[in-house]
Amino acid sequence: MRYLDLGTAKKISKIGLGTWQFGSREWGYGEGYAAQEAQAIVSRALELGVTVFDTAEIYGFGRSERILGRALGEKLESVFLATKILPVLPVAPVVEQRAVASANRLGARRLDLYQVHQPNPVVRDGTIMRGMRALQRVGLVGEVGVSNYSLARWRAAEDALGSRVLSNQVRYNLVDRAAERELLPHAESAGRLVIAYSPLAQGLLSGRYQADSPPANRVRAANPLFLPENLRRAGDLIAVLREVADAHSATPAQIALAWVIRHPAVVAIPGASSVQQMEGNAAAADITLTEDQYRALEAASARFRPVTGPAAVLRLARTRFGGPSGRR
Ligand SMILES: NC(=O)c1ccc[n+]([C@@H]2O[C@H](COP(=O)([O-])OP(=O)(O)OC[C@H]3O[C@@H](n4cnc5c(N)ncnc54)[C@H](OP(=O)(O)O)[C@@H]3O)[C@@H](O)[C@H]2O)c1
Repeated sequence: MRYLDLGTAKKISKIGLGTWQFGSREWGYGEGYAAQEAQAIVSRALELGVTVFDTAEIYGFGRSERILGRALGEKLESVFLATKILPVLPVAPVVEQRAVASANRLGARRLDLYQVHQPNPVVRDGTIMRGMRALQRVGLVGEVGVSNYSLARWRAAEDALGSRVLSNQVRYNLVDRAAERELLPHAESAGRLVIAYSPLAQGLLSGRYQADSPPANRVRAANPLFLPENLRRAGDLIAVLREVADAHSATPAQIALAWVIRHPAVVAIPGASSVQQMEGNAAAADITLTEDQYRALEAASARFRPVTGPAAVLRLARTRFGGPSGRR
């Protein structure tokens, strides 16, 4: 495992573990996964040197936090524990109550990173950051983070907090590279962190899914990337991933992760449906892509043009509810 040094109290691993999957109905992994596999995934992640564990109060309506806290047990104190608040009513007293509730579900004395899950469209960050400041003062929160923030809003949040907002958790993978425009250069120059979520594009980049065998669960049924047409269009990108993977005796998923974390200011938090996947993901931290391989992946990523926008929404609806092209 490799680590990033940003002066935090605990080490930050380049590959972390995302736990939206823990106890969330929408991923459809079932009760056996929530009760046993999740525990085994966390135990193995710890053995492999993973320190970043990411959850949120909204995942499984608190269940993910409970499962993660139980699985970490006494190791809670040694990992970089990250959770998130959904800023529905982002006033200071509510923020403080919600942090305490998350810490209780996790069984943690301290939240190493407390993130605002998404920007509130109507309330600016002054009020929420007042709560965050109080939480830092009493020691319940170590670092403050945001998620799905633009650079301008990340900076404004930092002004409102009056100290660093360590990280911005955003989607970043070979299919969605919007973070490269502003967020990554800023993070690198200012000593901040981008936490890449969906680094495998929710499994698309594993190469496991084809137009005639898309994944079946609610999360991916709502994700236009998994439309049969887009799975077809992704063929070229998957082929390049496979080619690079063969050169490293690795898998396409590992190469997709190695590509994401090549940037010095980025850590990735893939979710995993099995211990084996998590092992593969952790091992990706030690893969070094050559410049040529990196560029070849970048070029393949630029060639991938998925159907998006209203056209994709229409096709998703047809796929879901039937209709002329939905049955194909
Ligand atoms: N802040 C936010 O708004 C936000 C949004 C989304 C996610 N997140 C966080 O980011 C984490 C990761 O994102 P995500 O779950 O959306 O997407 P992801 O990590 O790109 O995809 C996870 C899925 O990919 C498949 N997979 C994982 N490792 C694999 C491997 N080695 N080989 C083959 N397939 C593999 C698994 O699904 P199958 O085995 O079923 O194919 C797994 O459930 C979440 O758990 C959550 O903590 C945050």
